[in-house]
Amino acid sequence: MRKKYIAGNWKMNLNLADAKDLASGLDAEIKNLDGIDNVDIAVCPPFVYLQRIIGTLADSPIKAGAQNVYFEANGAFTGEVSVEMLKDISCPMTLIGHSERRHVMGETDELINKKVHASLAGGIEVILCIGELLEEREGDQTEAVCERQLREGLANVTADQMANITIAYEPVWAIGTGKTATSDQAQEVHAFCRKVLADIYDDSVAQATRIQYGGSVKPANAEELMSNPDVDGVLVGGASLKVSDFTGIIKAGLACG
Ligand code: 13P
Repeated sequence: MRKKYIAGNWKMNLNLADAKDLASGLDAEIKNLDGIDNVDIAVCPPFVYLQRIIGTLADSPIKAGAQNVYFEANGAFTGEVSVEMLKDISCPMTLIGHSERRHVMGETDELINKKVHASLAGGIEVILCIGELLEEREGDQTEAVCERQLREGLANVTADQMANITIAYEPVWAIGTGKTATSDQAQEVHAFCRKVLADIYDDSVAQATRIQYGGSVKPANAEELMSNPDVDGVLVGGASLKVSDFTGIIKAGLACG
């Protein structure tokens, strides 16, 4: 059985004091929960706070990851952060291809694939985010978009490397809008993505790969979403910024584990 994986994406929010309070508050809340080792938990702070939060969580089961990374090792890439730099601060994981990177910053599947390869080559785990826009869903393109983002994002990634990849399905129309996909809509796309993974790799890779759902996840809907057979956790934006909400979502994950 796949272990549930609950990740918080703090996006461009908080200040240093609030970020440290959030990390230490979460750690204090979850430490004593029964069966806490039965779920994986991560938070992704903004880059400027990442090293401090990795320190705050040094003795915690919660790991701190990056929201983004660049594929080049070093050089004249103003404003970018490399895999080597993440390794230097003991950062174990990164999000790649988040919808805001794709649709606000204009990242392509080709760029995302380069970032995936650079991260895996450097031993950094990846949460690869995919998902369709509202007009794509309305145009019945959801499966085509998710399939393309999976095939191109994972191009030339080996079956062995898939052990270090989690997929996050985040329908763009559900992100920050309060409109969560229904439990059935989420399950349907997750099952489809698993079928695509089986086609790219094989059934055992498809069965082993975790697929998170993201988009307006809250304590009130997290358990229903994660009780679906193909929903292996959640990637949470807004509700990961409050200790009580994110703890409620972690408890929902434990209830489904
Ligand atoms: P919200 O939970 O705020 O909708 O954000 C989801 C998301 O983009 C997580 O990466």
